[in-house]
Amino acid sequence: MRVVDLIHKKRDGGELNASELQYIMNGYSGGDIPDYQMSAFAMAVFFRGMSRVETANLTIAMAESGDTVDLSAIHGIKVDKHSTGGVGDKTTLIIGPLVAAAGVPVAKMSGRGLGHTGGTIDKLESIEGFQTELSRERFIAQVNDIGLAVIGQSGDLAPADKKMYALRDVTATVESIPLIASSVMSKKLAAGADAIVLDVKTGSGAFMKTLGDSEKLAAAMVEIGTEVGRNTAAVISDMDQPLGYGIGNALEVHEAIMTLQGQGPEDLTELCLTLGAHMVVLGGKVGSVDEARELLRGKLHNGEALGKFRAFIEAQGGDVAAVDDPSRLPQAPELIEVKSDGEGYVAAIQAEQLGLAAMLLGAGRATKEAIIDHAVGITLRKKVGEPVQAGETLAVLHVREQSEAIRAVAEQVREAYSISASKPAVRPLLLSVVTADGVKRY
Ligand code: URA
Repeated sequence: MRVVDLIHKKRDGGELNASELQYIMNGYSGGDIPDYQMSAFAMAVFFRGMSRVETANLTIAMAESGDTVDLSAIHGIKVDKHSTGGVGDKTTLIIGPLVAAAGVPVAKMSGRGLGHTGGTIDKLESIEGFQTELSRERFIAQVNDIGLAVIGQSGDLAPADKKMYALRDVTATVESIPLIASSVMSKKLAAGADAIVLDVKTGSGAFMKTLGDSEKLAAAMVEIGTEVGRNTAAVISDMDQPLGYGIGNALEVHEAIMTLQGQGPEDLTELCLTLGAHMVVLGGKVGSVDEARELLRGKLHNGEALGKFRAFIEAQGGDVAAVDDPSRLPQAPELIEVKSDGEGYVAAIQAEQLGLAAMLLGAGRATKEAIIDHAVGITLRKKVGEPVQAGETLAVLHVREQSEAIRAVAEQVREAYSISASKPAVRPLLLSVVTADGVKRY
């Protein structure tokens, strides 16, 4: 087999088979295929697309290019959840214990934040003592014992994807549905779950800006899951503004605890109940999503989900007292209020800009090596559709110190808000559900 012939075949619209795709992926991750040939291959896929079977085979080849996690020692159907990334997205902190409280085991590997999006591992590390590295034996034993464990990514999962993603970033080949779908799903397959629920965001703070593109991406990922025998469902939700009110690690943990107490913001609570309900259905506990939502709503209100969160924090060595007294979480010493210049209604909030602002305060990383500050971040006081007076607070920055640079960030936060004279139409949070049966809009 010669790579140049395979690039040629793809360039001319041909379909590559499983062994050809495996040859390309293993060759690339092993260093035998150079970047220039992989770039040409990615560009050929960008223009020619891939069939459903071909995309599934590419995903399998990427998943098998490195380590795969064996979760078979965990009892029950293991359901994973994946978010395409958003601002203020603390859903894993809530859904993990919520779904575990309903009897579905959650054995999750999560990532750290980069750029304008946060990462679950960073958020959990704002709880003093919390361990995000567990041995394989302890990870499995904890899931069998309390139904939930969350660790940082270990091992070399889907190295072909890691290398290819970096290459796509600099060769204008990121925005290809088969390449994005196979990239996301290869990591999920390698992480070993039996079923997968995808939280696909759409809007200004998301990777996919339009609902149509988000639905196409979701459908491609669900098709891959179906092809490889892992039941997959996707929920598409609005990311035209941040989720909930807190952006920043400890602030998000605090909001997650409030949500687990049944006192969370409505958008965050609804999204968690919906994603969690799909997980419970795929986990085989309940037959319908509506029934599962009611089951989970009960677990939020009777304290079982919060109890599960407490058990999870304790099992991984974290300060359990912080769950009942979130003032024990890291707190920033200074607050800066960002006030509205005009009056009217909040028409839009540029979520990505707020995510970047939180990163500049120290809550996120501009580079992989950067050290983050768990205490800092932004609390929104106003969300889209709310009335606002001139001089009223739109958001509060939680900062280490006041400085010229921090005041520039405050200005950036003010500019992320658009104020209109008339009340804007607010897009609903939940937009579509994609399953093996197709796309359904709410
Ligand atoms: N996230 C991924 O993991 N891969 C992509 O290609 C895009 C977003």
